[in-house]
Amino acid sequence: MKKSALISFGFIFLFCTSGTFLSGQTARIKFDTDRIIGEVDKNLYGNFVEHLGRCVYGGIYDPGSPLSDANGFRKDVLEAVKGLNVSLIRYPGGNFVSNYHWLDGVGPKNERVPRMELAWARLETNEFGTNEFIKYCRAVGSEPYLSVNMGTGTIEEAQRWVEYCNVKDGPYYAELRKKHGFPDPYNVKYWSLGNEMDGEWQMGHLNAEDYSKKALEAAKLMRLTSPDLRLIATGSSNYGPAANPDHWNRTIITNLKNVVDYIALHMYVGNPDNNYYNFLSTPLVMEQRTRIVRGMIDEAMQKADRGNRPPMYIAWDEYNVWYRARTTETMQGTRALEEKYNLEDALVIAGFLNGFIRNADIVKMANMAQLVNVIAPVFAEEKGMFRQTIYFPLELFAKNMHGKSLDLLVDCPSYNTEEFYLGLGESKAKLSNVPYLDVSATYNNGEVVICVVNRHKDNAIKTDIICQSGEFADVLRISEINAADVKAANDFGVENVKTVQKPDLKTRGNTVTYSFPAHSLTMLRGKIKL
Ligand code: AHR
Repeated sequence: MKKSALISFGFIFLFCTSGTFLSGQTARIKFDTDRIIGEVDKNLYGNFVEHLGRCVYGGIYDPGSPLSDANGFRKDVLEAVKGLNVSLIRYPGGNFVSNYHWLDGVGPKNERVPRMELAWARLETNEFGTNEFIKYCRAVGSEPYLSVNMGTGTIEEAQRWVEYCNVKDGPYYAELRKKHGFPDPYNVKYWSLGNEMDGEWQMGHLNAEDYSKKALEAAKLMRLTSPDLRLIATGSSNYGPAANPDHWNRTIITNLKNVVDYIALHMYVGNPDNNYYNFLSTPLVMEQRTRIVRGMIDEAMQKADRGNRPPMYIAWDEYNVWYRARTTETMQGTRALEEKYNLEDALVIAGFLNGFIRNADIVKMANMAQLVNVIAPVFAEEKGMFRQTIYFPLELFAKNMHGKSLDLLVDCPSYNTEEFYLGLGESKAKLSNVPYLDVSATYNNGEVVICVVNRHKDNAIKTDIICQSGEFADVLRISEINAADVKAANDFGVENVKTVQKPDLKTRGNTVTYSFPAHSLTMLRGKIKL
């Protein structure tokens, strides 16, 4: 066959892979405000602060800085964090928590002892601990979410932390909190039973059977102390060649089916081979994993005895792009994990968020890892801060995507990936029929919000957006994240990638046509007349 024939055959094939879509056609997104997947939980917009690198010290907390307030919180960082509408913040780790003893971080600062921190090879001064963290959450309007040490810690230590935080008065640790100057209990609702206990890198790593036994007993003591806790069990984070994540998840779900509220899954992706199309498809693997775990939960819930508690949900407890700052040198010390992000990373984050919305009936929590400096949307130095590219999709979703997630029909061209590694320590993937348009939508207070990533690197995609349960009332407001180059990044004083308001789109009837620019995220928002 001649080369030109091969190329045109490839072109036709590419544009036929989504089934009905043929070259030259207009893509279609159809929605119906009655066709609902589930309620979008505000906790999809959670985040994570770990004692790692400059996330806490030199990130959110920098008492010596002229940019900080009386609590030592960096004011510029705090304002940027507020802009993300962070619903809850997970703390203090991460791998760190598996060698953390919470008592080290409370009480008079001059009596707190420094410790060798083994997870990230640093000295932990313990200057910042539970009370400072809760104060930070209150300052940014987020709910605290604490993670207990299931590695080197005991179930008794976990129980005592709950007592310190949540019991009003009487027992020793409640009184200790009061003595430390905090008369009112914090009523911390969300607690995770350890971190990544499936990873051999974790201090005190356990096998699935031993972890579930320890987690079950910890849960018992913690709930006897504070009955209304929402508990999150460690699900799979280890997808390395020797791992068996399905065995781990099935064991945890089966053994903890009566007790825990969420199973936590972790996933980091990257683009080490510089293959844009492979990279842009990676959030779909998160959705594959969601489907597998959903099936396990469904099966276990048939036999569960949960009283009035709703079924177990999935928490995507850590997710992000992380591959550049992942060498031995860049994973240690005060400058660990300082990843700088570009436009394609922001589009991948939008893909994750679209995936969470599309699975809103089972994914009820997601925490971007992490908040500041360490693989983070906010980057700070002594002189100031800037918003990384990934800040902007997170902000758009957190501010706009609420209410009911809609079940869409998306008809558009698609592509196939090569076989590729998802990231360091990860498994391989090969995906077929990856739609160029990645879409989710919500319906709330009479307004529809549609988020569209056009994964095509070079072409805009003209699309009819069709409302099947009414008409567009007026105009659609359009926000866009894009740049000329997919490698465009931000820096101090340079915002190459950010959200831009485009002219409103006038609507009439039930169909509007919009051309989604190449390699972009577009959000359309407007009222529907039913
Ligand atoms: O977020 C960085 C690290 O990634 C966390 O400490 C750990 O839980 C995960 O492996």
